[in-house]
Amino acid sequence: MRVAAVVPAAGSGERLGAGLPKALVEVAGVAMVTRAVDGLLASGIVDDVIVVAPAEHLEAMRAVVPTTARVVPGGHDRVASVACGLQAIGCADVVLVHDAARCLCPPEVVRAVAKAVGDGHVAVVPAIPVADTVRRADAEGRVVLVDRTGLLAVQTPQGFDPAVLRRAHEAAGDNRATDDAGLVEAIGAEVVTVPGDPRAFKVTSPLDLAMADALARLT
Ligand code: CTP
Ligand code: MG
Repeated sequence: MRVAAVVPAAGSGERLGAGLPKALVEVAGVAMVTRAVDGLLASGIVDDVIVVAPAEHLEAMRAVVPTTARVVPGGHDRVASVACGLQAIGCADVVLVHDAARCLCPPEVVRAVAKAVGDGHVAVVPAIPVADTVRRADAEGRVVLVDRTGLLAVQTPQGFDPAVLRRAHEAAGDNRATDDAGLVEAIGAEVVTVPGDPRAFKVTSPLDLAMADALARLT
């Protein structure tokens, strides 16, 4: 089974506000993109890695990932960047899409996702139960309680049958889904879950970065 991984790392990291692309920001002395790629490779099942980087930071990105990983320029949003990565992958049975910002995702999650695709599921997402009580705000500012039963927070890496993911991206149009499973679901394909891991959280804010830093120093 040949597994290719696309690592979207072309975001600017506005909410983190570090003044450089988030994927190049260090967590305990190691760039997030380096940690994300190393985590994929540590699974022992990934054959090919494509890192999608901001066009003006290709060389900086190449300098911090293994030479076996290819670095290609991304697009104006995540959907566009993943599409750029997909164009660069060769022949594969499974494609994983893994945010550089989820840089501490354990290798066992990578293996579980890829295995579920290998077992015949066309779209697989790692997910964990939502711990907070959740409300939805409407346009008038009223807040309505949402039943938390069954609510899941979805992580990456997400795994796909490459042909299905390609079709989903071709059909995406104006769909600016925040993940690839959202695009796949929009073309009618079934999405299944495997257990995620709290360590696969996304570094979005300065607080997340502080937490990632502390966690990385522990392990
Ligand atoms: N991403 C990408 N190309 C973009 C935008 C985002 O490859 N044009 C990637 C980011 O690099 C990140 C992942 O998608 O690894 C998840 O996006 P997010 O956490 O929103 O990162 P940023 O867009 O960089 O952050 P922000 O939204 O705060 O600017
Ligand atoms: Mg973003």
